[in-house]
Amino acid sequence: MVSKSRCEAVGATSKIEVAELADFNWDNLGFELVQTDYMYIAKCSQNGTFSEGELQPFGPIELNPSSAVLNYGQGIFEGLKAYRKDTGSILLFRPEENALRIMMGAERMCMPSPTVEQFVNAVKLTVLANKRWVPPTGKGSLYIRPLLMGSGVVLGLAPAPEYTFLIFVSPVGNYFKEGLAPINLIVENDFHRATPGGTGGIKTIGNYASVLKAQSIAKANGYSDVLYLDSVHKKYLEEVSSCNVFVLKDKVISTPAIKGTILPGITRKSIIDVARSQGFQVEERLVSVDELLDADEVFCTGTAVVVSPVGSITYLGKRVQYGNGGVGVVSQQLYSALTSLQMGLSNDEMGWTVEL
Ligand code: COI
Repeated sequence: MVSKSRCEAVGATSKIEVAELADFNWDNLGFELVQTDYMYIAKCSQNGTFSEGELQPFGPIELNPSSAVLNYGQGIFEGLKAYRKDTGSILLFRPEENALRIMMGAERMCMPSPTVEQFVNAVKLTVLANKRWVPPTGKGSLYIRPLLMGSGVVLGLAPAPEYTFLIFVSPVGNYFKEGLAPINLIVENDFHRATPGGTGGIKTIGNYASVLKAQSIAKANGYSDVLYLDSVHKKYLEEVSSCNVFVLKDKVISTPAIKGTILPGITRKSIIDVARSQGFQVEERLVSVDELLDADEVFCTGTAVVVSPVGSITYLGKRVQYGNGGVGVVSQQLYSALTSLQMGLSNDEMGWTVEL
């Protein structure tokens, strides 16, 4: 039953009445698109600034077959989440960090980007317009997907003459089909996700298409996902297809340092700070694949995966298991600390949440 209580999303160009909660079964959310009400669209010419933008009903967009994003992959994306507090208000988690990261990615991909203010305002506008799709507390979150793409026409290889900044949202639950249970990873020895000097350190769409092959082979063999090694030495951990990786040994938490081939995850950065605030020593450095063999715990972090415990890793045919199949104590502790903050259940001393 849709609640009668109403709130307003007041946008730059729109004033929309939004019901409190969508009439939807919130109990079985996974990580699949649930069509929501509105998307945000702004346009910009190659050397210009983005228009104010507007909300439109969610649906297909028109793209010229010769657009730069379709032909040459000139596109980047972001991911962030909104949670419904038990008081009913909505919390965004560090949206200005996504704004800064999309600017960095846009620079690498020869694209203009929205300013931090434009980005954050557009996110707020889109979330408020789709407020009824933010799941009830404890049932999931609203995943926010900003896209920046070369929508203008090119035939020869060149930056597009026009760009589209679009945001859509979907309520989501757990990313992996395992839910919160530990995932099983395989270390990839032949395919690489990124190379030095390439685009591994930004969220360009091509980084994700290029891992589909390794990922689908891994899934066909019963693994949850793939852990990639550096492409030069085939020795150091990089990241998993959709998230960063952490290794715990003797109370020291280590994660691969950001060096251009690894995505600077916002959850990664947040977990480093949360872990340090809880007294852990955290090292950002080269982490050798051999360190997986005697680690106490391994876990992944990302906006979509949050903090995902790893139950086993297989490397060159050898399988190492962590924590007898259960969730590691430290992984659980960091997961709880982060999600309590994101859901407004603990005091936000870091000032990371933005209340709508
Ligand atoms: C995210 O965690 O937000 C991502 O962009 C990863 C994606 C593959 C779901």
